Amino acid sequence: MKVLIETYGCQMNTADSELIQGILRTDGFETAHTLEEADILILNTCAVREKAEARIMGRLTNFVPLKKQNPNLLIGVVGCMAKHLGHDIVKKIPYVDFVVGPDNYRRLPAILRSIGKNAEIQTAFDRTELYAGCTPHRPRGVTAWVTIQRGCNYVCAYCIVPYVRGVERNIPAENILAEVRELAQQGCSVVTLLGQTVNSYVDKEVDFPELLRRIAAIDGIEQIRFTSPHPLGFSDELIEVIASEPKVAKFVHLPLQSASDAQLRAMRRNYTYEDYCTIVQKLRTACPQIAISTDIIVGFCGETEDDYQCTKQALLDHRFAFAFLFAYSQRSLSIAARTLPDDVPNDIKQKRLAEIIAIQQTISKEVYAQCVGKRLPVIVEGFSRRHPEQAVGNTPDFKTTLFTGGDAQPGDWVEIEIERATSQTLKGKLIRILKKGNAPQVENPIDVGISLGPTENPPN
Ligand code: 5AD
Ligand code: SF4
Repeated sequence: MKVLIETYGCQMNTADSELIQGILRTDGFETAHTLEEADILILNTCAVREKAEARIMGRLTNFVPLKKQNPNLLIGVVGCMAKHLGHDIVKKIPYVDFVVGPDNYRRLPAILRSIGKNAEIQTAFDRTELYAGCTPHRPRGVTAWVTIQRGCNYVCAYCIVPYVRGVERNIPAENILAEVRELAQQGCSVVTLLGQTVNSYVDKEVDFPELLRRIAAIDGIEQIRFTSPHPLGFSDELIEVIASEPKVAKFVHLPLQSASDAQLRAMRRNYTYEDYCTIVQKLRTACPQIAISTDIIVGFCGETEDDYQCTKQALLDHRFAFAFLFAYSQRSLSIAARTLPDDVPNDIKQKRLAEIIAIQQTISKEVYAQCVGKRLPVIVEGFSRRHPEQAVGNTPDFKTTLFTGGDAQPGDWVEIEIERATSQTLKGKLIRILKKGNAPQVENPIDVGISLGPTENPPN
């Protein structure tokens, strides 16, 4: 039986889709590459905003003809929306065969083999589930997602994540190190560590800075990225490791959410705007070449015009490399949905959002334009899907860079002279190869323009 997984949402879901493929393949299932050849279709879903869920519901309704054509086709919903809506998904879309939550993927082979007339719903939390012993099925390449933490122990008022992904659980450090060592042996040199609040990672004596140091000591690993840290617990030691460890990317995605202290309090973020600024300042002082990006929510409960102006000013002041900008979307289960009125009218939310998108677009353009004329190191990660003659890589401060010329291969560090820039990419020409990598043959072409961020729809 061949399985196709469509993935929505953040990188955690991308990594989970690889995990699911791994679990199923170990059990004899195969991977389908098109809808037509699939016997089983799995949508790995996001619940973080209403729009994400609406989009997935829309996608599910598209499958009616497929199901008519092939009545044996199994269709399932897994991930955050599966946990959030559970049985309601089957009530709305009766031809959905299974609904499986983020802690129940180990059961998928058994579920798929035993499905009868009635849909199978399994969404219970299992706080012991770390997927130890399950090997994700990753495309061959030089980059890999590595999940180091599942769930979240924070309870930001707007956020549904703790209710669909459960409490924080950290993967044992020895398992992470073994996984990265194996990846390095297979020729993977760029790892991105994933967790809801990665900097709260701790396993006995190994905290997050120590984990970074231990991964950096692994031969063959060239770049270590991570997403996303929380401003709380962003320690001086972590700043020191980022600044001093050459293999750690000079890039931090640090969600601000709002620059108004009243809003931060209502959001239960547990830091002030000043705390946030102090971290940014320390990062920039310790590591002048650092690029910082952020997440912002406008129109959260009670946001006044003054609150909004603070956030807008913060974007102008910090000049983030990029930002994921959102209008607040009320999520059932969250603290805000239970205790605060969603009282900013939608037209005001949208107006604020449009304004900061335009502002950030200009800033990103300017930040990227500053690279033009410079010669920058880039680690090559693959070739562009749309323009296969162009190689794609990233600078140490995580600016996606396209270039032509030369015989650079994935895994190589190259020097690129930047000739042009957009608000999300750099373009240039190869000057020289700085260091040859140990490249595997890369399987997946790269979709340029999709950045490392927590959303299915990067607004910039
Ligand atoms: N509405 C809008 N944006 C949200 N985010 C999380 N929950 C919501 C919500 N209810 C945003 C936050 C978070 C990112 C992953 O998504 O900015 O950092
Ligand atoms: Fe956890 Fe807050 Fe991030 Fe939601 S926004 S995943 S509650 S830290």
